[in-house]
Amino acid sequence: MESSVGILWLTWALVTLPLVGMALWWWNDFRYYFPHRKSKLPPGHMGLPIIGEMLNFLWYFKVIRRPDEFINAKRRKHGKGEEMFRTHLFGSPSIIVCSPSMSKFVLQSSDDHFKMAWPSIEIIGHKSLVSVHGTAHMRLRTFILKAVNQPQSLRYTASLVQPRIVKTLESWAQKGRVIASHEIRKVTFENIGKFFASFEPGPTMDSLAKFYDVVIQGFRATPLDFPGTSYRRALQSRKKLMTIFREEMEKRRENKEYATSKKNDMLNGLMELKDEYDKNLDEIEILDNIFILVVAGYESTSLSIMWAIYNLAKYPDVLEKVREENLKLSKRRNGQFITSDDIANELKYTNNVVEETIRVANVSAFMFRTVSKDVMYKGYKIPKDWKLIVWSRYIHTNPEYYEDPMCFNPDRWDKPSIPGTNQVFGMGLRTCPGNMLARLQVAIFIHHLVVGYE
Ligand code: HEM
Repeated sequence: MESSVGILWLTWALVTLPLVGMALWWWNDFRYYFPHRKSKLPPGHMGLPIIGEMLNFLWYFKVIRRPDEFINAKRRKHGKGEEMFRTHLFGSPSIIVCSPSMSKFVLQSSDDHFKMAWPSIEIIGHKSLVSVHGTAHMRLRTFILKAVNQPQSLRYTASLVQPRIVKTLESWAQKGRVIASHEIRKVTFENIGKFFASFEPGPTMDSLAKFYDVVIQGFRATPLDFPGTSYRRALQSRKKLMTIFREEMEKRRENKEYATSKKNDMLNGLMELKDEYDKNLDEIEILDNIFILVVAGYESTSLSIMWAIYNLAKYPDVLEKVREENLKLSKRRNGQFITSDDIANELKYTNNVVEETIRVANVSAFMFRTVSKDVMYKGYKIPKDWKLIVWSRYIHTNPEYYEDPMCFNPDRWDKPSIPGTNQVFGMGLRTCPGNMLARLQVAIFIHHLVVGYE
């Protein structure tokens, strides 16, 4: 009797478990494919219910630390020529875009086709430049471009950031041994705090830095608002940051003299910005934008500087060439700070190093869009409301476009890259408005490091 019950259980397990496993395995594909069964969807697999392919994604990113193998595995399975794959990531049915031509198509299309859409919109803010569209986006974008990316603003930034960079390097020499990534974050944050909101080092800056670090950790996390998640902690830190900025705005509104003394910073610029009806931005618009500008400028720039130092340490021949070029400039400047014009005109090799650093670092590995309406591309349907993940790092590390891509080779920038294959700062309407500001800060850091220190 007992043995027949055991056999029944075993039979049940042998039949049921594989069926349940298969049902789970195909659940998402069936659920999302069914409404589009009359069309051809991009190849791929959409993973398990709710989490989709997130475990697979994390395996490649966090465990084996070879992110692009996630795409290579799909290309091996579905065809090397495929430009996109369907999947389910960050809580949404998605299409991964991994070719220059398709990402160009996506990034250069209007909002009617593909809308900018980060998964963590609650952290980014509904009224930030990154979240708004149409005229509201253009107005903010034009202001930010003028404030950070024009020759005049770059000249100002170059003079603003150098004293702190020089002081930081002096302190490194005194300490003898430092964790460069921590120190770089600190000085980059101080420079950004000064440039964007005229904050000086002190308790407010320390609190800001602490809260921003938490925000950045939650920025790319799956948006799960549960106690203990990075996302929840980031939302809480965002609230605290908003309070600090709100208090600063109130001070400026109440005290004209105080506001005038901070005239040149981004926060004042946003407070004075008017729309087409001559109306100022509302408080949330100002707060969302100052908040996101610091996020965008802080993390990406400090990571790029860190990678620049890493690569200079790893490639002594590159360091030697950079040093030679910068010593020549330093001699000509006779101890004065360098300018953005010097960098553009006299530091050709250093600029190549900056370009190569940013390509290899891939600090902005993906761009996110939402599909506004059904779109056809090369016979495949891209369904409305799905997400698009433009996997730009795959393009920058692909030997089809960059010879020996993992080798740090600044000389490759002596000639332009293959059209469409350099998307480190994005493309189209959303191209990074801080691209020159970032390049400038990396070049300045390299300059002072190599002319002053071994
Ligand atoms: C090496 C450093 C940087 C990299 C690699 C980088 C990369 C990018 C990329 C790829 C995009 C396009 C996103 C998309 O299309 O979805 C972008 C957008 C943006 N970046 Fe940067 N960025 C850097 C530095 C900065 C700095 C210093 C600022 C500060 C002003 C900044 C502010 C922004 C903003 C506000 C956007 C949104 C633009 C829009 O929606 O119109 N970035 N960045």
